[in-house]
Amino acid sequence: MSQGTHGFGRTTRALHWVMAVGIFGTFALGAYVARMEVGLSNLWLFGLHKTIGISLLALALLRLVWHRIAPPPGPLPGPPEWQMTLARVTHRAMYVFMLAVPVSGYAYASATGLDVLIFGRVTLPPIAPVSEAWEDALLLLHRTLTWTFLALVGLHVAGALKRALGARDGTLRRMLKG
Ligand code: HEM
Ligand code: HEM
Repeated sequence: MSQGTHGFGRTTRALHWVMAVGIFGTFALGAYVARMEVGLSNLWLFGLHKTIGISLLALALLRLVWHRIAPPPGPLPGPPEWQMTLARVTHRAMYVFMLAVPVSGYAYASATGLDVLIFGRVTLPPIAPVSEAWEDALLLLHRTLTWTFLALVGLHVAGALKRALGARDGTLRRMLKG
């Protein structure tokens, strides 16, 4: 778990990369299920999307708690002040989306009136009223939030790659290897 003033600890790095893979996968799966021709043979993919999405919500909560226990180190110096501020604001905003995206998906799934079933057996309590108006509004919200989140992640990755390939200042290395 070692997390000093310069490095990211093992748990922080594991959470970062496991969630990054999970979030990209859930984006892709969500975009796929929303467009596929629904039939009996592929209905389980909705369940998979919900299961992974709720797991990511749990991981995001864990990550926030972990952040308190072992705060990440400050950024490596170098870039101009406005880029440091942009990176900080982007990190904070991504945390908000890590919570808001799955919660909006959960609320949308509740509004459809179907059981929100995860892991094939656990039924979660509904968190939104069942009606067509709620369903439409929450689907729009889930969509808007996911695509905004993707744009933010794109900005974040561009920033990380800029430092890895341009400045080569070890920013990416310390998130990969500590
Ligand atoms: C990090 C978590 C999540 C991500 C990144 C994500 C992403 C997405 C994306 C990209 C779509 C397609 C949007 C579009 O049509 O443009 C989608 C659809 C959907 N999501 Fe999620 N989602 C997440 C969590 C959840 C959760 C937790 C649930 C429910 C418990 C959920 C339920 C749904 C459903 C039912 C659809 C299909 C909507 C339709 O039929 O058109 N999502 N999601
Ligand atoms: C869904 C995808 C991603 C999310 C939500 C995400 C989120 C975050 C967050 C919130 C931080 C701040 C540290 C923390 O609180 O853990 C961070 C740091 C970092 N991320 Fe990501 N990240 C994602 C993908 C990526 C990818 C693909 C790369 C590499 C190309 C990357 C490279 C980095 C680096 C290098 C840092 C450390 C920045 C520093 O030294 O201050 N991230 N990320």
